[in-house]
Amino acid sequence: MTSAFRDGLLAGKTAFVAGGTSGINLGIAKRFGELGARVAVVGRNPEKATNAAAQIGKDALGLSADVRDYGAIRGALEHVAGEFGKLDIVVSGAAGNFLAPAIGMSANAFRTVVDIDLNGTFNVFRACHDLLNTPGASLIAITAPQAVNASTLQIHACAAKAGINQAIRVLALEWGPDIRVNGISPGPIAGTEGMSRLAPGAPADGGRQERIALKRWGQIEEVAECAVFLSSPSASYVTGAILDCDGGASLGDATMRAMPARA
Ligand code: NAP
Ligand code: COA
Repeated sequence: MTSAFRDGLLAGKTAFVAGGTSGINLGIAKRFGELGARVAVVGRNPEKATNAAAQIGKDALGLSADVRDYGAIRGALEHVAGEFGKLDIVVSGAAGNFLAPAIGMSANAFRTVVDIDLNGTFNVFRACHDLLNTPGASLIAITAPQAVNASTLQIHACAAKAGINQAIRVLALEWGPDIRVNGISPGPIAGTEGMSRLAPGAPADGGRQERIALKRWGQIEEVAECAVFLSSPSASYVTGAILDCDGGASLGDATMRAMPARA
């Protein structure tokens, strides 16, 4: 994909991407690396983290830590700051999800998703605060349309992502002017774990794409470009914002666009 942003836009910057070892967050990490940033990615699985770092580039770091464990995530952040210097960009994107009705979900299942998504985001942002290069640092949380749109089989993710949206706004208020805090809300993004879990078989389902204003699933690279924008000087007056990258999917059904001709 061609980029509207020039090469070297993020040269000299350091980026930490929690949950950056696969999918959308890895796409964000790769794009940061292509634009000159030094990048670290973190996930639970050490092998996945090493492989992800190798895809980003030879200077990238791939670390293992669970965002539910404050001490572990703080340790990872300190390690990266020790290697790269203070951090300019921190993305919190680790998430867990599955389809389950509330009545069929154990308390532990609900808690697990809230713990990864919401508590994990608090942990990552709280733990990175004194390691940020300020003024000018950019924090980005990856949220989801479920934060706003109630969705069946998604009580855990709806609650967790709604909490993330408010955390973004609170931190934007508390941590300005030196730190900007924003969110990205991706819609259905092709080829991702999230899509395979929440909409199995969906790529073949033309009907669902028809309902989206832009008539297609999104690409990982398109979400990555939103992260680049939010981390760049172009977004210097943007904080507390949640950028929908969803082709208009969250607006509603785009199927009915023309009125029947009047008799
Ligand atoms: P994914 O490939 O499964 O990515 C999840 C990442 O988080 C992986 O790197 C995973 O690595 C890591 N992770 C999971 N639990 C963790 C934990 N407890 N501690 C540390 N790392 C953890 O998912 P994706 O579909 O690309 O989704 C990425 C983000 O976009 C999520 O925040 C998701 O809610 C959001 N989103 C996705 C879509 C979509 O269409 N896919 C739509 C809206 C929003 P390990 O398994 O090794 O830990
Ligand atoms: N339906 C209902 N409950 C489920 C479930 C499902 N499909 N999958 C897991 N659970 C429950 C488990 O049964 C367990 O509850 P219990 O102890 O009462 O039995 C609880 O959730 C925790 O499961 P566990 O496997 O121990 O958690 P984990 O911490 O190892 O993994 C998950 C977390 C469950 C979210 C796992 O799916 C994961 O690691 N996901 C990351 C990738 C992902 O989801 N990507 C998409 C992002 S949009």
